[in-house]
Amino acid sequence: MRKPISRILVINDETLVLKEFVKGLNAAAKSLDNPLGIVFTGITTARDALKAIEEDGDIQAVIVDDTLYTLKNNGAGNSRVLQMSALELVQKITRFRPELDVYILIAQEQEDEVVDALFSEAVDGYFYREERDYRGIYRILNAQMQEKADTPFYDALKTYVLMAKDAWHTPGHSSGDSLRDSPWISDFYEFMGEHVFDADLSVSVPMLDSLMEPTGVIAEAQKLAAKAFGARRTFFATNGTSTGNKVIFQTLIAPGEKLLLDRNCHKSVHHGVVLSGARPVYLDSSLNKRYGIFGPIPKKTIMRAIEEHADAEALVLTSCTYDGLRYDLAPIIEAAHHKGIRVVVDEAWYGFARFHPAFRPTALESGADYATQSTHKVLSAFSQASMIHVNDPRFNEHIFRENFNMHTSTSPQYSMIASLDIARKQAVMEGYKLLARTLALSKELRQQINSSGVFRVLELEDLLPDEVRNDNIQLDPTKVTVDISECGYTVDELQNELFERYNIQVEKSTFNTLSLLLTIGTTRSKVSRLYDALMRIAREGRSPRRLYRTPEIPGFTQLKYLPRDAFYCGGTTLPILDDQDKLNAALTGKVAADQITPYPPGIPVLVPGQVITAGIVTYLAGLLRSHKRVELHGIVYDGYLPCVRVLTSSDEKGLKKLKA
Ligand SMILES: Cc1ncc(COP(=O)(O)O)c(C=O)c1O
Repeated sequence: MRKPISRILVINDETLVLKEFVKGLNAAAKSLDNPLGIVFTGITTARDALKAIEEDGDIQAVIVDDTLYTLKNNGAGNSRVLQMSALELVQKITRFRPELDVYILIAQEQEDEVVDALFSEAVDGYFYREERDYRGIYRILNAQMQEKADTPFYDALKTYVLMAKDAWHTPGHSSGDSLRDSPWISDFYEFMGEHVFDADLSVSVPMLDSLMEPTGVIAEAQKLAAKAFGARRTFFATNGTSTGNKVIFQTLIAPGEKLLLDRNCHKSVHHGVVLSGARPVYLDSSLNKRYGIFGPIPKKTIMRAIEEHADAEALVLTSCTYDGLRYDLAPIIEAAHHKGIRVVVDEAWYGFARFHPAFRPTALESGADYATQSTHKVLSAFSQASMIHVNDPRFNEHIFRENFNMHTSTSPQYSMIASLDIARKQAVMEGYKLLARTLALSKELRQQINSSGVFRVLELEDLLPDEVRNDNIQLDPTKVTVDISECGYTVDELQNELFERYNIQVEKSTFNTLSLLLTIGTTRSKVSRLYDALMRIAREGRSPRRLYRTPEIPGFTQLKYLPRDAFYCGGTTLPILDDQDKLNAALTGKVAADQITPYPPGIPVLVPGQVITAGIVTYLAGLLRSHKRVELHGIVYDGYLPCVRVLTSSDEKGLKKLKA
């Protein structure tokens, strides 16, 4: 493995003192053990220091002198002018890059004053300037940085594997021994690699802790993650953010209690409604009709819902959305908290945001009580590895733990936990640098795509539905949406062309857009290959095709029963179309027992307990007859007949109707 570089800035305006200090510290770094590649650099002004912190992703820590003066000639001889107080500089640094370690160099006589002023700031330590204890300072910096770069779970896993203990426990493949010599499946062993198997262990190994009751290396890894992401508590989830969301709703909401949610939430939130017995209050998201993209819920809709449903237990929002639109969360969260409503933010697509100021504030920084993040979607963790961050001052750990354990396998995949540990380490140690590169690549790619003259990247103004134009919505530039309507292919044909001819797989599409996801793993080569492919397609000079949009999803109708009550009824199935392909009038007025979600767009047209209208039946029939293949999740097939499960009249008699 390449040795890292860890630059530490020393900021002091007295050139000679600074020179001596930096020399002493570098000599200490050279003569002592230095696994992190620590080097010290001196800077004399606060402005240059901030510039260096912005431009140099290898900076890991700063030592700020508490007196930052500069010499100024005011005509009557030289006088000293304060550049910036240590407090101001520390605040600027930590707001910009909260992952940096910050130390203060103080003069003996100012100790109380300085420590008091910086009391509430994230200062990692103080050193007396006059002591000039370079080796001592270096040892402390090195130790604290190593702590930040620690991966307690991954280290323990690796150590255990290398100890090569005989396995008399699960899993059954026993470190891969059941595969290695098999004439039938040893190729799988070889393809996957030996450590996939020997690191696949179980709770039978006490030194690897327990995800369900962590007290050792998993607890330590979670603590480091909480610090890195700015949470009071962090929990590792090995079943994705899908599980994270369900755990939170089951923790916060008792049957019948209200939850305010976007109808366009991920389906795990809707499943959480069924599991928890929540009474959902759906808030309609904005819609960009031109591109078929659902945006955030208008701020005034959220604010009105908070006022009208002050008895709600929680509000859940998705930020950013799949298309990269993110809310101005702080005022919304403040309004919700004012009414005692907790705020949960689904940050499945935004787990990296803490590590570059271009993406902040994060949900937690904006005051959210819970944030769920698919670390696997946008950082270096394995699929399904997610984090649940908690900042709820009323956090009930016992109830949370019971729900967490209810959803967690007693045999979690250990390499997934290790991948969360290393993903956090990477985000803290080089997240800023990698995200700066990703941002640069995104800018380059946007320019290149637009230069094709055929494809066009949609910017914030293009993506924003009218209803949210004044809501201070921001765009995450790592999500790139491309208008393909001029290229002469339908979206399906284009995706196929990119895949078959150019070996490119994109993230998702609508009828006239393609979405590309840039991450810290995006390379310049991938950008070039995509640009090349789009340019070649653009040069084919095809005439634009007629593009068919899917019918617009009908608005929400009435919720007659709690989704959980309706879901657990036996019900009966009724076809959407009869034998003559006519709409089945018998469905109108019935109550759905299942969630029916057309994909795309992935928004449920029906949730359990919702009244079915003629408009909904027409919409479903339209999708079934559409040329474009649309998945219809929740539909039951009776032979060839697509059906909806609905409540029978005797089911309805046994249920309590919801008050309007
Ligand atoms: C907004 C949102 N939340 C949650 C999830 C579920 O995340 P995971 O795949 O980690 O279970 C997704 C997945 O696509 C999502 O888009």
